[in-house]
Amino acid sequence: MKVLVVGSGAREHAAAQVCARSGHEVLCTPGNPGIAQVAEVIHWPQDNAALVTLAQERGAELVIIGPEAYLAQGLADDLQAAGIPTFGPSRAAAQIESDKAWSKAFMVRHGVPTAAHQSFETLEAALAYLDTQPLPTVIKDAGLRAGKGVTIAQTREEARAALHAIFEQQNAAVVIEEFMTGQEVSVLALTDGERFALTPPSQDHKTIGEGDTGPMTGGMGVICPFPVSAEDLETIRREVIERTLAGLRAEGIVFCGVLYAGLMLTPQGPKVVEFNARFGDPEAEAVLPLLESDLAAHALAAAQGQLNPADVRWRDEASAVIILAAPGYPGTPQKGIPLHLPQPAEGEYIFHAGTAEQGGQLVSSGGRVLAVTATAAELPAALAQAYALAGRVGFEGGQLRRDIGGRIGLRPSPLGQPQEQP
Ligand code: GLY
Repeated sequence: MKVLVVGSGAREHAAAQVCARSGHEVLCTPGNPGIAQVAEVIHWPQDNAALVTLAQERGAELVIIGPEAYLAQGLADDLQAAGIPTFGPSRAAAQIESDKAWSKAFMVRHGVPTAAHQSFETLEAALAYLDTQPLPTVIKDAGLRAGKGVTIAQTREEARAALHAIFEQQNAAVVIEEFMTGQEVSVLALTDGERFALTPPSQDHKTIGEGDTGPMTGGMGVICPFPVSAEDLETIRREVIERTLAGLRAEGIVFCGVLYAGLMLTPQGPKVVEFNARFGDPEAEAVLPLLESDLAAHALAAAQGQLNPADVRWRDEASAVIILAAPGYPGTPQKGIPLHLPQPAEGEYIFHAGTAEQGGQLVSSGGRVLAVTATAAELPAALAQAYALAGRVGFEGGQLRRDIGGRIGLRPSPLGQPQEQP
């Protein structure tokens, strides 16, 4: 099958890689130098009309959309209208991620367990409500902010500063919600809107600092599978995924693609922290290498409303992802730093997130630069192997967290920062 992957990050690299591994011809736009090793990368305008034309001209039999921004701009709607099978939800369905206030109200309407919250469209109302809330409290920008729109405020000053920053933007809205305690877990559902197959649960590490400190990022590392009890998994399946898909259908919305539930395993059971409308990043880099069956076949079946969950098979293995980020991230990342990559062994992957080529040299071009993944029979071995591989990357000033897996007692990495010299 000819598959067009849309996007340019490590998630799309992982998706392109598994599609190529299954023998498909993979095209990708806008792509990156890593994706170019497994797919034909096409430099092309990224507006909806141009992407529909590209899919038509190149005879794509399936389009897989990676990033949320394309979903929010209605790319899936336009591709489907042109008769092109598309794995990625419509703009209406993607509201579950792109409009956090809508998403929260949806969860309340359909009894999906989530944190107590209130949404506001003015700074004054948000500030007044804040004064009534216990600390810490969670401030969420209601729009798309690449994972960086959330502040867990320990003080009122911090919370007020976050609110002021959000309302400096035009048409801003905010969700203020209860701070939940427990382990965080990501469960992704591949779905045609009705039937679904769950990925193995995984755990992302969202702050830049070790010990879960510092500002939020898009995600700094993942372990998979994250241990979730059978009871909690059943709750997630029934009360979160099934209820959400049914609620969407009841509102006339069929969600085709990946429904990402970011959950807190609270003492009262699993509750939704956030929904995303796509593969998580870096969760995709952990989960997709464990997929034994054919992603493109599942995506096509889902696009045709015929997903058979029994066809979706996962290796009984574990994986770990270590993100290497540029100096300055999650603020302004330093670009143009030379990267020297080791050769990954069997079961190891270096997915490119923010890389470019300058005069034949691979360099950093974004905040998160590389997602270094290893798979192994057991999680501790996968983690050790991913850290060992990350430690062999030449990336001067590259940042990584050395405590991925630490929340469930896995030993922090004995390795230091990535090597400064190749
Ligand atoms: N890893 C969190 C996200 O993809 O939004």
